[in-house]
Amino acid sequence: MKEVDELKAQLQDLQNKALALFAEAESLKVLQELRVAYLGKKGELTSVLKGVGKLPPEDRPVIGQFVNATKTTLAEALDKAEVLLSDKEKQARIQAERIDITLAGRTTSRGVVHPVQQGLNEMTAIFSQMGFEMAEGPEIEDEFHNFDALNIPAEHPARAMHDTFFFNAEGDADAKLLRTHTSPVQIRAMQACVDAGGEPPLAVVAAGRVYRCDYDVTHSPMFHQVEVFKVDKDVSLAHLKGVLQHFLTAYFEKDVPIRLRPHYFPFTEPSAEVDIGCVFCNHKGCRICKGSGWIEVLGSGMIHPNVLKAVGIDSSVYSGFAFGLGVERLVMLKHGIPDLRLFFENDVRFLRRMGAK
Ligand code: DAH
Repeated sequence: MKEVDELKAQLQDLQNKALALFAEAESLKVLQELRVAYLGKKGELTSVLKGVGKLPPEDRPVIGQFVNATKTTLAEALDKAEVLLSDKEKQARIQAERIDITLAGRTTSRGVVHPVQQGLNEMTAIFSQMGFEMAEGPEIEDEFHNFDALNIPAEHPARAMHDTFFFNAEGDADAKLLRTHTSPVQIRAMQACVDAGGEPPLAVVAAGRVYRCDYDVTHSPMFHQVEVFKVDKDVSLAHLKGVLQHFLTAYFEKDVPIRLRPHYFPFTEPSAEVDIGCVFCNHKGCRICKGSGWIEVLGSGMIHPNVLKAVGIDSSVYSGFAFGLGVERLVMLKHGIPDLRLFFENDVRFLRRMGAK
């Protein structure tokens, strides 16, 4: 056989083998290796081309054309295979990364503001808007602030009614106790004002935990109160009633009738318990209000002159009103919560349902 024909046959062989391999290639990586092996600088085609130099000059153009045709055929076949394979690989990837959008989602659970804190926030916000300033006092109190300064001297029967948790013996000079109400914040706020050389007007709202040694369906050893008071010249019972009416209407988000019923508290004179028209029967009378149409919500009164005296405010010049309320009780009334203990059991079903929106 002539050398040129031998070379042609060799090229034909090479092409057939290459095309077969291209068709079998299963990945782009393999295909890329084949491209290098056949068309690369040190590839099969190049090594065949080396034989061209040995041919007689007149045969060289013929074989040159043949080589070029083979090169084109192989390059086109590679390109085509590449398109097919990359498409196949893309499909496989899409299949692998597929998301089943019909699967139920994973819920993330968010915390909610505890209903008592929520109620406390709502209440203090109403008083802030009326111009009352926020104040705080310690939960561990002394007898002076919790009792004496509030006109509840030792041996006063009201002390026994407070079911106080004492840290050491009652009556010790430095006896400490868990405050039984937020009223001591009245004393602390007035003292702070006087100590700083200031004088009334003072309008204060305080909120926080209080403690009593008492536990049943309607009593918890720890609960929350909001305390409000105002001291100024010419403060009257009418101011107290106006503030109460505004507060209770704003908190319950409806026009609730209110009434002040005479009562006794050592730190106020006169004193009154405040009732609202029963929110369950709209003031008609039901089981919850025991048929009266009224529900008691808080204690109030005009600050006793002895209280002002205890902090060094002249009661012949200044007067004031004060009231204190149980946060849990008001939240229960607003939301129809039947049992105080729900607040402290922390059953998430209850907390979520009550969660701040
Ligand atoms: N401190 C009282 C209690 O815990 C509530 C109270 C009654 C507060 C009358 C007041 C008030 O400020 O004037 O039972």
